Amino acid sequence: MNILEQFRLDDKVAIVTGGAMGLGQAMATALAQAGANIVIADIREDVAEATATTIRETEQVKTTALKVDVTNPEDVQKMVDDVVEEYGKIDILINNAGMTINEKAEDMTYEQWNKVINLNLNGVFLVAQAVGRQMIEQGYGSIVNTSSMSGIIANKPQEQCSYNASKAGVIMLTKSLAMEWSKYNIKVNTIAPGYMKTELTKPFFEQGGAMIDDWMGFTPMGRPGLPEELGGIVVYLASDASSFAQGSVFTIDGGYTAL
Ligand SMILES: NC(=O)c1ccc[n+]([C@@H]2O[C@H](COP(=O)([O-])OP(=O)(O)OC[C@H]3O[C@@H](n4cnc5c(N)ncnc54)[C@H](O)[C@@H]3O)[C@@H](O)[C@H]2O)c1
Repeated sequence: MNILEQFRLDDKVAIVTGGAMGLGQAMATALAQAGANIVIADIREDVAEATATTIRETEQVKTTALKVDVTNPEDVQKMVDDVVEEYGKIDILINNAGMTINEKAEDMTYEQWNKVINLNLNGVFLVAQAVGRQMIEQGYGSIVNTSSMSGIIANKPQEQCSYNASKAGVIMLTKSLAMEWSKYNIKVNTIAPGYMKTELTKPFFEQGGAMIDDWMGFTPMGRPGLPEELGGIVVYLASDASSFAQGSVFTIDGGYTAL
């Protein structure tokens, strides 16, 4: 098949968790531009609905918004059941919902630790497992987990040990699932973004200061990434173009982890 045609996602069905805003929204939009129908699965129902509507109207694909807490096994199973009922299959999962808490390791409460691990690692496992079971039944699928460069390096200067540990866990979970599910024709890969300028982080970058100087000083390209700069890698990993990519970590970080 022609190489550009291999990137097309026409009639594919993609679930994007945490897809209502930020990086998830940008990845959902990129998948839709490649032709995929999109399910925005997010804990914030109103924002998920608005994002799904915008993508449907601008990209001319089918979209659905579902209220899902990815840390709740019942919500996650209902999401899979609802998508299969509506679309008949799940081709692509972008397992992306995540959060961070900045706190010194010596001051972090067990509750703070658990909150981050529960969303970033347990949530990613729960969704991968439920969607993976469906993909095993189908005999195909592509899963892209959102890790972070923080799964590879410890950021400076902010203290965020639970986040870093959770994202390192996502990388090893990805490799483990790739090992187990290759035989079912399921690809499992992970992306590890660096500092990205989303709506949430934009004010920090615009304000500047010592922390931003540190962040950009360690980024050879000297600038944050834009959410849409994840579009290429996510369409590649979701599509047939990445047919031999398996269990891999794709850093998209302006060179941060190259130092
Ligand atoms: N922004 C960055 O610079 C950056 C860098 C590397 C990795 N990441 C990772 O990318 C992913 C997205 O980050 P972002 O910056 O877009 O974050 P964001 O806060 O802008 O978006 C996260 C989304 O997840 C949703 N969400 C939160 N808890 C949820 C839950 N329990 N169930 C379902 N949805 C839930 C939120 O409602 C929101 O829509 C995260 O995993 C994050 O760790 C972000």
